[in-house]
Amino acid sequence: MFQVIVSTCIAAAAIFTGALASLSIVPSQAVIVKPSSFAVMGPNANFRNDSFNMLFNPTSTTPPFFQVFDERFLTILGESASIREIASNETFAFAHEAPVYNPPTDEVFFSSNDGGPLGMSDLEHNNVISKINMSKVEAALSVHATGPVNVPITQLNLSDSVQMTNGATGPYKSSLLLATSGRGSLPPSLVLVNTLPPYNATVLLDNYYGRQFVSLNDIKVHPTNGKFFFTDVDYGFLNHFRPAPLMPFQVYRFDPDTSAVRVVADGFNKPNGIAFTPDGNTVYIADTGASGGFMGNNGTLPATLYVMDVDPVTNAFKNRRVLAYIDAGVPDGIQLDSEGNIYTGCADGTEVFAPDGTLLGKFFLGMSTAEMIFAGDGRLVILAETKMYLAKIAANGISLSGPPV
Ligand SMILES: *[C@@H]1O[C@H](CO)[C@@H](O)[C@H](O)[C@H]1NC(C)=O
Ligand SMILES: *[C@@H]1O[C@H](CO)[C@@H](O)[C@H](O)[C@H]1NC(C)=O
Ligand SMILES: *[C@@H]1O[C@H](CO)[C@@H](O)[C@H](O)[C@H]1NC(C)=O
Ligand SMILES: *[C@@H]1O[C@H](CO)[C@@H](O)[C@H](O)[C@H]1NC(C)=O
Ligand SMILES: *[C@@H]1O[C@H](CO)[C@@H](O)[C@H](O)[C@H]1NC(C)=O
Repeated sequence: MFQVIVSTCIAAAAIFTGALASLSIVPSQAVIVKPSSFAVMGPNANFRNDSFNMLFNPTSTTPPFFQVFDERFLTILGESASIREIASNETFAFAHEAPVYNPPTDEVFFSSNDGGPLGMSDLEHNNVISKINMSKVEAALSVHATGPVNVPITQLNLSDSVQMTNGATGPYKSSLLLATSGRGSLPPSLVLVNTLPPYNATVLLDNYYGRQFVSLNDIKVHPTNGKFFFTDVDYGFLNHFRPAPLMPFQVYRFDPDTSAVRVVADGFNKPNGIAFTPDGNTVYIADTGASGGFMGNNGTLPATLYVMDVDPVTNAFKNRRVLAYIDAGVPDGIQLDSEGNIYTGCADGTEVFAPDGTLLGKFFLGMSTAEMIFAGDGRLVILAETKMYLAKIAANGISLSGPPV
């Protein structure tokens, strides 16, 4: 996670269409920004000295819009792409993390900010999980042809065994699979929560051989072997609701059949978002080192997406290399589309990278995004703390439910 951002823009370059635009029909909310248009800004340019609060919007376009750096992003968007605000609450960061799309009910579940600005949660107060009904979203959008709509969300009443949810995936066997950060002395945990009333919960893991985790951050199910992989990092401590860390910040594997847990990767500054390719051979980890909670942001630390191979026998992550370094804040949650493109939440919205590491484009919101989720084909729901957005695009997501049963 990271903090809510006040956006500012810099004016540096003009829009360069030309060759790029001639290849496809450009959606009305898209702006093409060729890298050659800003490669040289000149000695007196307004360079950015803060990646979190000074965002890169050289065309000074009003968000939300699609910022296109590479023509492949136009294929992801499709000709009739749109992006609209679907819910908002300016006093409450209700839409932070842990998104899960549940196809049987056409609902998206998500958690509020845990311990950060406008989260209404702290050492004394748990965060909350809510859901939004996508049929209601579609109905509201069709009534109002343009501009924002505000579809009511519904808060779940969860058991006290769910404390400070920060990550989630699934649906896994008709449940949400949560990674919680814990609160005070209450332990971080992996928890299943029924996707239907009464939203009953079952804790699967709350310790490492008797030791509490630091504050669990994010989770995915391996698409072929069905093991759970989750990250652990000190944002609970940095947000004042967990004790000082007593273990390194690392990535774990949990076997749902035996309940055995082991470490599969370490050496990150702050391991955060995680995602597997559908073949399960490749894994991405976001390192949010540059976002330091009460220690402040530090631009010399990682804001980096890493890519690794998954060892077929041990499942240890090996051959770590850089996929991309983020220009705006840090990369947080990660999702993949069916073509293998990598979507990550950043200080300016959701950024999309090709598997070769090229920054293809951004869902530019001018505000920070921790996570996003495909909610059925061609629908990307983006969580932006005090707002939620729906992008209707050509790309589709991948299954997050583990191996077929
Ligand atoms: C914003 O969220 C707070 C906390 O849940 C709630 O009391 C308030 O009614 C919400 N405001 C709007 C406009 O929905
Ligand atoms: C979602 O909203 C639609 C339209 O109002 C309604 O028919 C449906 O029952 C709702 N779904 C759930 C899970 O409540
Ligand atoms: C949560 O509990 C409140 C109060 O009992 C109730 O009004 C609300 O419908 C419940 N929410 C859900 C999603 O069941
Ligand atoms: C919820 O309760 C039902 C009925 O007892 C049970 O079948 C299901 O496994 C429970 N789900 C979770 C996630 O605890
Ligand atoms: C930023 O991080 C670097 C590397 O850990 C450290 O040397 C430096 O003191 C930090 N700067 C600030 C302002 O905290």
